[in-house]
Amino acid sequence: MNPTSSSAPPRIVVLGSLNMDLVVRVPHAPAAGETLQGHSIHSIPGGKGGNQAVSCARQGALVSLVGCVGADANGEALRQALQQDGIDTSAVATDASAPTGTALVMVEDTGQNRIVVIAGANARVEIDDVALAARLHGTAFLIAQFETPIAQVARAMTAAHRAGCRVLLNPSPVQPIDDALWPLIDTLVVNEVEAQTLSGRLVESPRDAAMAGESMRARGVARVVVTLGASGAVAVDADGARHHPTLPVETVDTTAAGDTFLGALAVTLASGASLDEGVSLGIRAAALCITQPGAQPSIPLRSAVLRSALPPAWTPL
Ligand code: RIB
Repeated sequence: MNPTSSSAPPRIVVLGSLNMDLVVRVPHAPAAGETLQGHSIHSIPGGKGGNQAVSCARQGALVSLVGCVGADANGEALRQALQQDGIDTSAVATDASAPTGTALVMVEDTGQNRIVVIAGANARVEIDDVALAARLHGTAFLIAQFETPIAQVARAMTAAHRAGCRVLLNPSPVQPIDDALWPLIDTLVVNEVEAQTLSGRLVESPRDAAMAGESMRARGVARVVVTLGASGAVAVDADGARHHPTLPVETVDTTAAGDTFLGALAVTLASGASLDEGVSLGIRAAALCITQPGAQPSIPLRSAVLRSALPPAWTPL
């Protein structure tokens, strides 16, 4: 299927974190003991769960988010930001005993970032099995990351599997994945560091990524995508491995590039298109994301992605 063709919007459920990003722009990351004058500081909606939900919504999916915020102004601001993108927030709980999640994001002049996450209310996410089963009915994908408790992610993955809903897992920040969970994953999206940790292999090239992807597929997951930053991405499935290069763009801020990629990939797959079409659209979406500052404000709409330049063709590995 052509990702540009129109059909009923796919339904996607995201289980994930909501963070208010405290973004500090700096010339370079300070060394130990160094005091540095920064350029600016802003509070910007983020969190891997929120960003991935926004990316899916801006790519045209009907999205609902399962998460938790504190009873504070940041929680309300994050909820409102999601609603502005048409995301169903009825499963975003409010827990008055914890502050809304916060991320300290330091962005260097090169656009590279360093992030510290304080989980806050994200650590209080608790799945309501009955409500989740109803929500997963007729849903193409459950998307989850590891910024919410892994036991709750495992429960949601099991529920999705039972409901016939495919699971797209982004195990970030990386932690070991239980043996029983691997076969529940339809699509695993990891960066080089995550691929290396989960496969136990060094990942320094597209060929290394292909081998790491194959070894993770051997654990039961159907498809693996390894994102490689400026070197593009590697897609691995039953047909083998392919390297998708990216186009060089002026990098302003890489925050949420992976989340943007993942949303575009998920919506393309949910629409019935191939893994390679999804990866290609994801690369175009991420390339636009990194030309803008911040997490959620930098995530492009589908119309902008479809107008953007095509990356070079993929090559088999
Ligand atoms: O993936 C980027 C996100 O990671 C940021 O928005 C930050 O909140 C952390 O969760």
